[in-house]
Amino acid sequence: MTETTDAATREQRQLIDSLPQDFRWGVATAAYQIEGAVAEDGRTPSIWDTFCRVPSAIDNGDTGDVACDHYHRMPGDVALVKELGADTYRFSVAWPRVQPGGRGPVNEAGMAFYDRLVDEVLEKDLTPWLTLYHWDLPQELEDAGGWPERDTAYRFADYSMLVFDRLSDRVRHWTTLNEPWCSAMHGYVHGVMAPGRRDFGAGMRAVHHLLLGHGLATQRMRAAAADGTQFGITLNMSTSDAATDSAADREAARHADGLGVRIYLDPLVHGRYPPDVVEDLAVRGATLPIEDGDLPVISTPLDFLGVNYYFGQQYSGVDEQGRTTGEDGFPVQREIPFGEPTTAMGWEILPGKFTELLTRIGRDYPNLPLFVTENGSAFDDEPDESGYVADDGRTAYLASHLAAVAAARQRGADVRGYFAWSLLDNFEWAYGYAKRFGLIRVDYETQQRTVKQSGLFYRDTVRRVRGA
Ligand code: FCB
Repeated sequence: MTETTDAATREQRQLIDSLPQDFRWGVATAAYQIEGAVAEDGRTPSIWDTFCRVPSAIDNGDTGDVACDHYHRMPGDVALVKELGADTYRFSVAWPRVQPGGRGPVNEAGMAFYDRLVDEVLEKDLTPWLTLYHWDLPQELEDAGGWPERDTAYRFADYSMLVFDRLSDRVRHWTTLNEPWCSAMHGYVHGVMAPGRRDFGAGMRAVHHLLLGHGLATQRMRAAAADGTQFGITLNMSTSDAATDSAADREAARHADGLGVRIYLDPLVHGRYPPDVVEDLAVRGATLPIEDGDLPVISTPLDFLGVNYYFGQQYSGVDEQGRTTGEDGFPVQREIPFGEPTTAMGWEILPGKFTELLTRIGRDYPNLPLFVTENGSAFDDEPDESGYVADDGRTAYLASHLAAVAAARQRGADVRGYFAWSLLDNFEWAYGYAKRFGLIRVDYETQQRTVKQSGLFYRDTVRRVRGA
């Protein structure tokens, strides 16, 4: 066995060793990023299948058609989760596999895959942590208007119940949505993710309907759930610092935090949208299409909050020319790098900001157990002839971010688990296969899997902390 745990500094190691024995250790994946088999057993296209066909939408023209071929290699991949020392496997269900077209009855053949997956996970003595929506909206629902349409929220609740009815006898941890910020902003405002629209107003309507869909699904599942079943949502969050103490920079940071964190967590936890954000939206001519009774649905109590963290950010409210109003007529919000090293995604490596984020969420939204449902890094891996990667950058990122979680716990944040992104190198959305986040390398020509140094470090760390 390779000794890898000395990749952490002494200080990081001490922090990591302070994590409790019952801390939950997981690895995460998402359906479209690994499964492939896009036209098998009755699966119909999602918005990602369509988006992959848009010229130059995806680097290198890549698609998820084959991905990691996980659909055909599932038992071997679940065995790899175990090999990494994890106790929990976070995966997502592809909506167009179990309910093609987004309406109507279950597609038995598609559902059977997740039935087998859950059995395999339990067989390996792992806990299944199921995400219902990791971005693969059935194309028919997008054709009917997508998340900016209220009906999509009801369709999501119906779909959730189909999955819940079939799997809740064995699955106890249910996450409704993965990163609604990405669905709304990247999907409907920035146009860089499926469905690729660029319409701020549509994006804000999507925010509300994603949250409504989460609430409707949670209410219905909870009403049908056995004792001990837990429900949550996963949000991607960053820190938003003001680059200087100037009023313009503080205003830019407030705005970024409003649209990044508070527009989700305030309604989910406090049952109301933040007034300053509602005002910001009005200035941009956008409104949240709230109907009577929506906010109590959205604030249905959560059992946990999933936090996905990759980087922190800071903002200036002044552009390079010294102007505070942009060409679009709105206040400038310019991201200013901290000047720290970056990963292959260009994301700055800021473990201290991870501690700050978790501590802040714990303080502003108390009594909500936190699980880091994703954290990880992409680097340009260089495998040796056997496929092994001595990925020092990814290993160091993992060590510093695990230590950051432990530091947040010491400052009072109720973080109960950490799930590494990702089990395997996979289809990294608009970046295609160029960006590798796996603790395990995938050779896409042969589909060979090889545990990287970071994977060994993870396994050895989990064993040490557990005292196993
Ligand atoms: C998150 C996504 C996940 C993966 C990582 C790198 O935003 O949830 O699927 O792509 O980023």
